[in-house]
Amino acid sequence: MLSEDTQNQEGSSGAEERALAVSCRGVSRDFGVGPTQTRVLHGIDLDIAFGGQTFLVGPSGCGKTTLVSLIAGLLIPTTGRIRVLGKDLQSLSPASLVEFRARNIGFIFQQFNLIPALNAVENAAVPLVVQGRSLSAAVKLAAIVLDRLGMGNYLTYFPWQLSGGQQQRVAIARSLVHNPRIIICDEPTAALDAKSGLAVMALMTELAASPERAVIVVTHDTRIFSYADRTISLMDGRIETSPSSDGQAHS
Ligand SMILES: Nc1ncnc2c1ncn2[C@@H]1O[C@H](COP(=O)(O)OP(=O)(O)OP(=O)(O)O)[C@@H](O)[C@H]1O
Ligand SMILES: [Mg+2]
Repeated sequence: MLSEDTQNQEGSSGAEERALAVSCRGVSRDFGVGPTQTRVLHGIDLDIAFGGQTFLVGPSGCGKTTLVSLIAGLLIPTTGRIRVLGKDLQSLSPASLVEFRARNIGFIFQQFNLIPALNAVENAAVPLVVQGRSLSAAVKLAAIVLDRLGMGNYLTYFPWQLSGGQQQRVAIARSLVHNPRIIICDEPTAALDAKSGLAVMALMTELAASPERAVIVVTHDTRIFSYADRTISLMDGRIETSPSSDGQAHS
């Protein structure tokens, strides 16, 4: 358990922390056991406000995917505490965590993780079906999002019939279709040509403008850096620069 002092560093009271989209306090993560145990993230303190796009940048292997996987509740921190939408993730039972994630978090994986046996529109509809929508209603909504991403002509294509960039857009549609309040994109434009990359970022910018939502983008792609409202640099598992989280656009 963290002391009250530790919880309140950077001037955040408990109530302020709960009003943030994301707050990390003293978050570390180790991989491996015994002599092979390695600390990949070291005492991360990070606040992310609603309304805007936070970019997470840094060299390969510095811990970006690990950090966003912790924020998404896909990994558990070795030390520290993570709050998302005011909820302390560690206080949730495994079943409640799955439910919380399904409802509130859209995660675009670096590897697209599409289901090979489902076509494009069925893949994109999965989060809605998980939430209990009928397949026909879910597919209808998924088709709208895919169309917005320039994939309207590929709804019935299977992943193996799609290019890397097209698969990525299906993965993006799947992460947005249930209208999550937290959207996490791990390299969303890496496999996309310039035009598709800009279409994706235009959609992210529109979504991020909502004061109810926060978008976190992990990227190496210098073409999209200007879309950031705030940029966080990670180096060897530590935050290099973390301007205060004010939710304002800085671009
Ligand atoms: N499941 C795992 N088991 C062991 N080590 C891991 C595991 N996942 C990540 N790591 C290690 O943690 C470090 C950070 O990995 P991570 O994937 O977070 O980096 P990254 O910044 O996302 O890199 P990239 O830009 O290449 O995607 C790496 O050294 C990686 O080898
Ligand atoms: Mg990564």
